[in-house]
Amino acid sequence: MRPVDLIRKKRDGAEHTREEIAALVNGYTAGSIPDYQMSAWLMAVLLKGMSRTEIALLTEIMLNSGATMDLSSIPGKKVDKHSTGGVGDKTSFILAAIVAAAGLTVPMISGRGLGHTGGTLDKLESIPGFNVNLTTDNFMSVLKSCGCALIGQTAEIAPADKKLYALRDVTGTVESPALICASIMSKKLAEGIDALVLDVKTGSGAFMKKKEDAVHLAELMVETGQQMGKRVAALITDMDQPLGRTVGNSLEILECIEIMRGEDGPLSKDLRELSVELSAWMFFLTDKCDSVDAGRNLAEEMLTSGKALDKFKQILRLQGGGDISVVDKPSRLPHAAHTTEFKSSSDGFITAMQCEQIGIASLVLGGGRSKKEDTIDHAVGLILHKKVGDAVKNGESLCTIHYNAVSDSDNRLSQALEILESSYTIAVDRPAINRPLVHQVVGGALRARGAGEISIASL
Ligand code: URA
Repeated sequence: MRPVDLIRKKRDGAEHTREEIAALVNGYTAGSIPDYQMSAWLMAVLLKGMSRTEIALLTEIMLNSGATMDLSSIPGKKVDKHSTGGVGDKTSFILAAIVAAAGLTVPMISGRGLGHTGGTLDKLESIPGFNVNLTTDNFMSVLKSCGCALIGQTAEIAPADKKLYALRDVTGTVESPALICASIMSKKLAEGIDALVLDVKTGSGAFMKKKEDAVHLAELMVETGQQMGKRVAALITDMDQPLGRTVGNSLEILECIEIMRGEDGPLSKDLRELSVELSAWMFFLTDKCDSVDAGRNLAEEMLTSGKALDKFKQILRLQGGGDISVVDKPSRLPHAAHTTEFKSSSDGFITAMQCEQIGIASLVLGGGRSKKEDTIDHAVGLILHKKVGDAVKNGESLCTIHYNAVSDSDNRLSQALEILESSYTIAVDRPAINRPLVHQVVGGALRARGAGEISIASL
């Protein structure tokens, strides 16, 4: 089977067989298919789409490219959350601490930045000494000790996704429901969890800009998970502006610490609320609480009592080389050499933020990757002072840019400024804000196993 023939087949909109998908995915994972051919195939998938059967096969083949975790030696329910990716999306750190503090086990396998969105692993690595590359044995031992471990894909878990994810990031092939579903579900189904909450973003900073596309993706993922006997629900959540008040790796960790310390301000309200909501669903799906309302109360209690913060410290102690001082002294997080204010050039109200552009502004400062081999500058990013609906005065700061300049010809700041110029819409009248934080829940009724439309053979 020649890769070029399979590329042509998908380019022309035809449906692949199991053998064809396996040849492509396994060939690429093993290194026998080069990046340029896989990129072409990914682009064909993005443009022509995949049938539900193809998506189920792709998920299965990616899952079976590696090992699955056996967590049966750890008592109690195991639950995880995964987001389709957003700007300033940092709920993972807060909810992992909340949920583990309440006694559940959270085995979280995450990814790096993708496109304009930030990655959990990149953010974690901004914490000095934090190790996301645990062996499976170490992962198990951290999980047993504190109920939560946050790691990247090991060589054993879904290696196909690890390679494809990095390639999609730099080839404009992220925004495909088929590829996102297979990427997320192949990792998550390998984790040995009982339940999964999906945070499917929609809006200008999401891969799925339109709500109906987000719902379609959510349905695909919920059905895939339910077919595997997992309890899965997907929250369709708003990403029309960054979540919280920070964008950029260490700045986002700082904001999470503020929330867990109870020192957050009004611009972090949406982040705190969504972290509580997702935790509530994690409690509900695992029967820790008999309603989502009760789950919210439990999540609040974990935050306000300081138990989530204590759990976060425990995770840092176990995965961060023992140094938890960053929690009490966030100044120990990497910080950029320079800051400058991005100011409003008129009076009025912010009526819209081009959220994807704001993510790209952080990326060009060095907070994300443009090429696979790029290294991340953990310190750079943006601190927002205004969000949609806020009044602004001419000359008032909309956000502070944290940046580094490695040479005189370094034009990253000017690029970021240019992007930001076109990212805010300011009008005279106060906008009516009617976008809820959670638009809809898919799978909340917990349909019985096997009720979905997708059949994943041989899993
Ligand atoms: N998160 C993932 O793990 N994969 C995607 O494709 C998108 C978000």
